[in-house]
Amino acid sequence: MEVFDSYESLKKVLNEGVGSIGMVPTMGALHEGHLSLIRRAAQENQRVLISIFVNPTQFEEASDLINYPKTLVEDLKAIASIDSKTYVYVPKTNDIYGQNALTETFDLSDLDQVMEGSKRKNHFQGVATIVKFFLETFKPTKAYFGQKDYQQLQIILQLAEKLNLNTEIIGCPIVREVDGLAMSSRNKHLTPAERKIAPLVFKALLEVKEMSKNKKYSVLKSFINAFFVEHSQLELDYFVIADSKTLLEISDQDKAREGRAFIAVRLGKIRLIDNLDLA
Ligand code: PAJ
Repeated sequence: MEVFDSYESLKKVLNEGVGSIGMVPTMGALHEGHLSLIRRAAQENQRVLISIFVNPTQFEEASDLINYPKTLVEDLKAIASIDSKTYVYVPKTNDIYGQNALTETFDLSDLDQVMEGSKRKNHFQGVATIVKFFLETFKPTKAYFGQKDYQQLQIILQLAEKLNLNTEIIGCPIVREVDGLAMSSRNKHLTPAERKIAPLVFKALLEVKEMSKNKKYSVLKSFINAFFVEHSQLELDYFVIADSKTLLEISDQDKAREGRAFIAVRLGKIRLIDNLDLA
């Protein structure tokens, strides 16, 4: 494992011709979800490149950025335990953005207008800005993203295609705790009592999947509304069943089972997001 804090020095090494590169962009506070992407990248490439960078342009609120968990020492230990030839890029903000962290504006074909995008206005433009930087600078053969952030994955797939970036984008399944909670760096901020009820979010999605076999979309929505009235510590932000490519809400009441269910819930200070393919 070699650690770099400047993209210029890392680029030099990559330009020496190191074979295929699998990149895994992260914001650190690594958990098994991240590690599953890294293991897959190690299986499919001669070199693995991991970035650990809490990207300021994708945060709406300064407090969220400041409070984002940082566990660099543990992160590097976890990476070192994976058997691969690995480069880790851990830059300071000015290595990428100079003095001004500016967001570029991309045409994201309205994929950024729904769900997380409607709640977090410039979030996906910030994600697109940093991912474009990584892919253009390091030119990885493949780049790995989790379906945990399914909307982000679809936006990056489209970005790579529109900008003709020469990297294959690979979507990877959601890794869950044994009780079903989707792993997330922010789960560290849940209190023990909150952590106990957090798996109800996935439980609700599983019920929706079962019901979608023979129920209309409106019935599923009513079920979800009632579910979160009953479990009132969990505050429903949105529940949508959408087409898995366009991310547009399904229009046919009887086609719920062909879509993907997306949910966001507030629990104390944390927002939990999850999604499940109903097909
Ligand atoms: P971060 O939240 O650190 O996630 C890094 C990658 O890990 C993303 O592709 C995310 O979808 C994936 N991931 C997170 N939790 C997962 C889980 N439980 N199962 C499977 N994959 C999981 O997403 C970001 O960082 C940033 O937006 C980034 C793409 C790095 C740009 O700054």
